[in-house]
Amino acid sequence: MREDSVHEKIKPFLKWAGGKGQLLPAIVKRLPDGIADAKTVYFEPFVGGGAVYSYLNSECRFSKCHICDINRDLYTAYYAVKHRPAELIAILEEFAGEYLPLDAERRKECYLRHRDSFNAAKGTDGFCGGGKSLRGKKRSHSPSQSVYHAAELIFLNRTCFNGLYRVNSEGLFNVPHGRYKNPRIANRDLILAYGRLLSNTEIHCGDFTLLEEAIKEQGERAFVYLDPPYRPISRTASFNSYAADTFDDGSQKRLAEFFRRCSDAGARLMLSNSDPKNTDPGDSFFDDLYDGFVIERVRASRRINSDAGKRGEINEIIIRNY
Ligand SMILES: C[S@@+](CC[C@H](N)C(=O)[O-])C[C@H]1O[C@@H](n2cnc3c(N)ncnc32)[C@H](O)[C@@H]1O
Repeated sequence: MREDSVHEKIKPFLKWAGGKGQLLPAIVKRLPDGIADAKTVYFEPFVGGGAVYSYLNSECRFSKCHICDINRDLYTAYYAVKHRPAELIAILEEFAGEYLPLDAERRKECYLRHRDSFNAAKGTDGFCGGGKSLRGKKRSHSPSQSVYHAAELIFLNRTCFNGLYRVNSEGLFNVPHGRYKNPRIANRDLILAYGRLLSNTEIHCGDFTLLEEAIKEQGERAFVYLDPPYRPISRTASFNSYAADTFDDGSQKRLAEFFRRCSDAGARLMLSNSDPKNTDPGDSFFDDLYDGFVIERVRASRRINSDAGKRGEINEIIIRNY
């Protein structure tokens, strides 16, 4: 990591549950030696709001990055920021002009209108930037429609309760309206800077295994940071509804096998998750899955629980193969 960095420090343009902003110091402290050299290719298969990606890529300026997430709305937003920033900013400025002058009641109506419109656009096989879907089928929406969808996601993220992204079992965004006095809906400088940051980055939409071949191909040049949905701390504190599909223990096991295969190919990998020992000291789920790798526990404050009393400090787990 360059101490004398003059690079722009770029913050995420979306707030995202499980965002790793506050775990960054612990992550940075454990990065592999030589990560900032020109040869490193960075992979983040569960990118979410990209707190780690944006920090590391602006600090290190990797030769190439690959970011991935199963959430198609998120993909659409990254794609628009990279390829259509001016159009995206213009739509956001229009939304800000529409929303900000209103009183609280009308703001809520405006929010709910956009939420309905956002959900109505979701059901169809669109919004992957006009490119091809993973199934190779041509997308049915024009790039402009996908930029509009991206703008609605950013608008909802800025104006909803707590800046959460949460969907119901049908995949529909269901977060209530928030009460921010002056939300920053159209952050022109941030979107332009983020678009420049993404210029060395390929954006993918799908399951984390989508990146496996590319990681193996890079071998020792690859650094992979994995931040999958948390294994719920308790049965009642479950929060992993970033997508309609849940990430259960079977998925965690599939991920551990992926971790081992990429490790065998020479890649360096770091993974973070909640520590099940927070609530059950006898639960050695991750210790068993990642037996043989470096497993550490670090303190972190968890913010996603809506019950303020449950936002205290807990352990997170950081696993590395180096
Ligand atoms: C804990 S969040 C990542 C947060 C991110 N590190 C940040 O700082 O914002 C986990 C992400 O994994 C995504 N996800 C869930 N299942 C996935 C899968 N099978 N493959 C790839 N991504 C998945 C979710 O959509 C979510 O954005």
